[in-house]
Amino acid sequence: MQINAGFIGGGNMAASLIGGLIPDTVPASNIIVAEPRDERRNELIDLFGVQVTADNNIVCQNADVIVLAVKPQLMSDVVQQLEGYQDQTLFISIAAGISIESLQAWLGTHNPVVRVMPNTPALVGYGASALYASASVNNEQKEIAESMLNAVGISTWVNRESDLDIVTALSGSGPAYFMLFIKALVDKAIQAGLSEAVANELAMQTAIGAATLAKLSDDDLTTLIQKVTSPGGTTAKAMEVLNNREVPEIIAEAFDAAQKRSEAMAEEFSH
Ligand SMILES: NC(=O)c1ccc[n+]([C@@H]2O[C@H](COP(=O)([O-])OP(=O)(O)OC[C@H]3O[C@@H](n4cnc5c(N)ncnc54)[C@H](OP(=O)(O)O)[C@@H]3O)[C@@H](O)[C@H]2O)c1
Repeated sequence: MQINAGFIGGGNMAASLIGGLIPDTVPASNIIVAEPRDERRNELIDLFGVQVTADNNIVCQNADVIVLAVKPQLMSDVVQQLEGYQDQTLFISIAAGISIESLQAWLGTHNPVVRVMPNTPALVGYGASALYASASVNNEQKEIAESMLNAVGISTWVNRESDLDIVTALSGSGPAYFMLFIKALVDKAIQAGLSEAVANELAMQTAIGAATLAKLSDDDLTTLIQKVTSPGGTTAKAMEVLNNREVPEIIAEAFDAAQKRSEAMAEEFSH
């Protein structure tokens, strides 16, 4: 893509996006990252060969797409101090819970803003991101935002900004839920006598296999579950325990808690 991409904040999520963008989607020479810590700036040069600066406004002066990648609690201060960008500069915010209305109020402009909820598997090219665009984002800018996120996985647009709170509870926080499940299986397998290496290898491949099968199969999830669950067999016994202990209801409760927290963060960090 013929764009100059800037990042405000060069932490974990910024690094996973940059790693996906270079060299094919955006060349390293067209990426500039503002990051306050010396040591981290040097790491970013070593890792990616991108340009770095300690001054956020140097990014504003040099990029036509700016990814806001600082922690949500810093966003208000950071964005209010940005200067030197153009009217048409596209801002892409990956911060949880910060509304487009707040971002535009802090910018003091009507610049186009896309909000994204990415997730950490972006680090290894398996990210799942949802995007929402403000009214001032044109089609070309939508394509740019989409291509940037597709460089680290898959992406999809949502129609309402509030859907991002649901997405946060699903795919934003989701990697932790699946990892908890895998860890519980691994810990139990080790306790039952398998070596750690064997338990890890089998549990992780099973998670990848289950997700891949569910994604590629024409069957829905209920049918796929039935296909593993022969009557009177081992899976049937395990599923009986999981359902009796109301695991689906517990997952729904955890989901609600994450969604509510995302909605509350919008209140907390929007002033
Ligand atoms: N991690 C996730 O799973 C995840 C998922 C979805 C969305 N997000 C969102 O992604 C954003 C970044 O998260 P992260 O996990 O990448 O956090 P992170 O690793 O802490 O990255 C934030 C970076 O911003 C830098 N920074 C601090 N103050 C700054 C300033 N005034 N100007 C410019 N840069 C500054 C930090 O530098 P120092 O290290 O020196 O403080 C750090 O390198 C957050 O808004 C989060 O909500 C994260």
